[in-house]
Amino acid sequence: MNVIEIIKEKKLVPVIKIDELETTVPLLRALQKGGIKVAEITYRTACAQEAIKTAIENFPIMAIGAGTVVNDKQAEQALRLGVKFVVSPGFDEKIALRCKDNLVPYFGGCVTPTEIMRAMDLGFDIVKFFPAQAMGGLKTIKSLAAPFPSVKFMPTGGINLDNLKEYLSFEKVIACGGSWMVKSELIKNRDYEKITKLCEEAVREVENI
Ligand code: 3PG
Repeated sequence: MNVIEIIKEKKLVPVIKIDELETTVPLLRALQKGGIKVAEITYRTACAQEAIKTAIENFPIMAIGAGTVVNDKQAEQALRLGVKFVVSPGFDEKIALRCKDNLVPYFGGCVTPTEIMRAMDLGFDIVKFFPAQAMGGLKTIKSLAAPFPSVKFMPTGGINLDNLKEYLSFEKVIACGGSWMVKSELIKNRDYEKITKLCEEAVREVENI
């Protein structure tokens, strides 16, 4: 299965911020135990690059991607490490083309028709929709989907167990991203059991849809 198929099937992309490198392995183990197959590790901390490397080395069967990739240099580094996908909060043309050249899926953030048209023009038909809740949630996604029937969305931002089902019930939403299962506080407190529990809950919710 390629990574897009895995994301479409599993429908959950935890958005992870790793502050302390040593939490990478136990955290990913907790996610795996909770039934999660995909993990987006964000470039928001000093150890992000090392955390991605550690995750890829230790969890070859998980689809590890780089998130919050905001420039071409980060994209280049992440691709060199072997990430399976790249995510940006906005849509960046240089990053998009680099990913395309490397045959690695890129989910760039788009919240306007103009941004979607730019993504489509470069050959992308799945976009991140961020920050989902603040940008009007599913109502906005439905409005954007109408003129672009070939485009699919991966919303993130403000998604949690309470609204997950609502987003995933729309067929143009391929998966939801979010940090609700992997809150910084839980990682800081090494509360891996709770993380596994939150993942299990989310996986169950997806299975019920
Ligand atoms: C992202 O980059 O996708 C978001 O920060 C995730 O948003 P959340 O923290 O509200 O889930």
